[in-house]
Formats: sequence, C-alpha cells, structure tokens
Amino acid sequence: MRETPLVLHVLGARPNFVKAAPVVRGLAELGASADGTGFALRQGIIHTGQHYDALMSDVFFADLGLPEPIANLGVGSGTHARQTAALLTGLEDVITEHRPDLVVVYGDVNSTLAAILVCAKLGVPTAHVEAGLRSFDRTMPEEINRVVTDALADILLCTSPDAIAHLANEGVDPRKVHFVGNPMIDSLFAALPSLDPERIRARLGLPERYAVATLHRPGNVDDAAAAREVVDAVREVSELVPIVVPLHPRGRTRLAEAGLVTGGNLTIIDPLGYLDFLSLVKGAALVVTDSGGVQEETTMLGVPCLTVRPNTERPITITHGTNLLVTPATLPAAAAKALADGAATPTGELPPLWDGKAGPRIARVIAAWLRGDNLAPAAAQTVRTSGD
Ligand code: UD1
Ligand code: UDP
Repeated sequence: MRETPLVLHVLGARPNFVKAAPVVRGLAELGASADGTGFALRQGIIHTGQHYDALMSDVFFADLGLPEPIANLGVGSGTHARQTAALLTGLEDVITEHRPDLVVVYGDVNSTLAAILVCAKLGVPTAHVEAGLRSFDRTMPEEINRVVTDALADILLCTSPDAIAHLANEGVDPRKVHFVGNPMIDSLFAALPSLDPERIRARLGLPERYAVATLHRPGNVDDAAAAREVVDAVREVSELVPIVVPLHPRGRTRLAEAGLVTGGNLTIIDPLGYLDFLSLVKGAALVVTDSGGVQEETTMLGVPCLTVRPNTERPITITHGTNLLVTPATLPAAAAKALADGAATPTGELPPLWDGKAGPRIARVIAAWLRGDNLAPAAAQTVRTSGD
C-alpha cells in the first residue's frame, strides 16, 4: 500500500520562516477534520542553516510556532558559489534520504534556488510559494533565484496578479499557476493580537513619534560609497524624527564604517524577533527599508514606507499600499512629506487576497495536486477563491 504522502519545506533565511508558518499550519489542518474527510499527509522542515544567529532563526521558530526541523544542514555564510554549493550537496543528501512526494520552497533566497535545482535533478516535484515576482533587475541575486526557481517548479503559487502576468509572459503553463494570496500576511494577521508597540517603545527608550529603518540589500550595504550615501540620507532623516535601526548582520561593519552608529537621534540595535519587530513597525510614524517583506507588512499596517531601491518586485505595495521608491538623494524630502501627510494608499484598496487565508488556500492546492485532481489555473482560481 502507498504510504501517506510526505511534504518537505526547505527553509533557510528569516523571511522564509515567516512565509512558511501559515502553509505548515494549513497542511496540518487538512488532516484534522473531525468527520474523517480530511486529507492526511506527513510534513517536515529542512532548515538549511543559511541564517543561523539566534535572532535570525531560532526566535522565528518560537514566535511563529514552527515545528522543530527534521534536519539542519548548517551551511552558514559564504560567497554565492560556496554557499550554493554547500546547499546543493546538503540538500541532495537529505532529500534523497527522505524521498518526499513534494518539496515546498519559498521566496527568492539561495536556499530556494538550491532546493529547486536539487529536486529538479532528482525528479522530486516542487511547489514555489511567492512565484512570479519580478524586479527585472538581474544585478539582484534574488532576481536570478526567482527566474530559475519559477522555470523549474511544478506548482507556482502567486501572491499578486502581476506575478501571474509575468509567468504567462515567460511561457509558463497556466495550469501550474495558482493565485493564493500572501502567506506573509497570514503571519502578520496571526501576530496582530500579540503586538505591543508601547512595550517595545518603552524598552528602547523611544518617544511616541519615531521611525524604523532596516537595510540589508547588497546594493546599499556592501559597497563603501553606496553605504555612505544611504547612511548620510538616514542621518538627515534622523534630524526630523528619532530613528531606530534593527540591523541585519550583513551590513553591520560596512554601515558602521559609513557612520551608522548610535548617537543623537539614531539608535542601532541587533535584529529583533518577529513579534518585537512588527510591534515596533506598527507604532512607527515612518519606515525606511530595502526589505521585500517589510514593504508588504507596512502596506497592511498602514505605515508609510520609503524603500531605498531603484525598483521593487512588489509593485502592488505601491499601487495598493503605502510604499514609495526613493534614492538616497530623494529620501530626506520624501521622509519629511510622509511624516507630514501620513500613509496614503493610491487606490484606497488593499492587495487582493491579502486576507490571512493564503495558508489554507496553498494547502488545498497542494492536497489537490497530491490527489491528482485537475486544478483550475490562476485566472479561474481568482474567481473561485476571492469570495472565501
Ligand atoms: C539573504 C537573501 C536575501 C534576503 C535576506 C533576508 C540570498 C542571496 N539573499 O540575504 O534575499 O532578503 O537573506 O534577510 O539568499 N549573517 C550573520 N548571521 C546570520 C546570517 C547572516 O552574521 O545568521 C551575515 C554573514 O556575514 C553573511 C551575511 O550576513 O555573510 C549575508 O548572509 P546571506 O545569507 O549570504 O545573505 P543575506 O544578506 O542575509
Ligand atoms: N524582521 C524581523 N526582525 C527584524 C527585521 C525584519 O522579524 O529585525 C522580519 C520582517 O517583519 C519580515 C521579515 O523579517 O517578516 C523580512 O525579512 P528580511 O527583511 O530580512 O528579508 P526580505 O523580505 O527582504 O527578503
């Protein structure tokens, strides 16, 4: 007799944990229906160890209620080639050992790229959560990871309509594509009752009105001259409003050399756990960032967001949210305006299906795929799921 299907999730970096938690929960709930009609499957997490500091990894498992990984490959940091090579060999071993029926990968990090390559070569089917996002900027390592991942995935799960259009333009079979909403927003909704902006504000000694900044894109933090420009702009904004920067370890040295140090209106702290970070963002008058996920979270929290990047793979946070792209040169004036005007959403509408139900939708798509059902492609899915 065939065994209960096994689904493995490959996670490695901070944003992966946030996106996966609702999917893991959704799949667990599939088998929990009291009337016995549920779909039973086994699932487990493979942690690649791409992120390994307690504040970049462990705290997310605790805050998001994620189960212990069945394996941690401990690949750690390195150049793209070295890190990806360690990911490939580690993942090949563990996926060969467990022989999953489906591997789920998330977002656009190197762990995602390695997992999709390994599975494609081993003939293991895959699902990509957050498929189809495009910045059309191949100087970003993430863009390369997105394009390769989507070319190889068997199930493509999209968070926004533009992603469906990009996949269609790239000739992806529409039967593989499903519009499911955004699981990162499921995690945000689940966290909302636990958020306590007052407490984190008091802990950090911040006044009532403050801004939050996060910076970790190579384009902003790796090059000394670029880092200096960004830091100068952030320092200028700090003359308008106190800024706290929970700093990703990538930029620690370079940004400090460029002058991003605690003093005056600027406070530099370690990365925060998920619930602390969202609490801080929820209470903020302004967010300055280059993060993908933070663009989405500020849209839903109604906090003005200035993204220090030349482009975004998440344009829906501009058209349906509070996000605006800035350069270091335009950041100070944009910050002054955002502080004066507050958040404005151009269309007055939030992104479709960012409703906290993406995890269950993804679980249903996966269950149907494992059962061998014919699934409606993205366009039909939109109609079918928008009312639930
Ligand atoms: C990675 C992703 C990026 C994502 C980000 C989320 C790739 C190519 N990039 O970038 O898309 O937005 O994660 O946070 O996959 N480090 C530590 N401790 C850690 C992890 C990293 O000190 O736990 C430091 C190391 O010096 C390391 C550097 O951060 O060299 C970069 O880490 P890496 O995982 O290579 O890329 P990120 O910049 O974190
Ligand atoms: N985040 C966090 N603590 C921090 C900074 C970010 O918990 O100090 C969360 C944030 O709320 C979001 C995710 O980490 O859910 C985004 O990760 P990151 O910015 O590292 O990656 P990206 O989204 O740019 O790939």
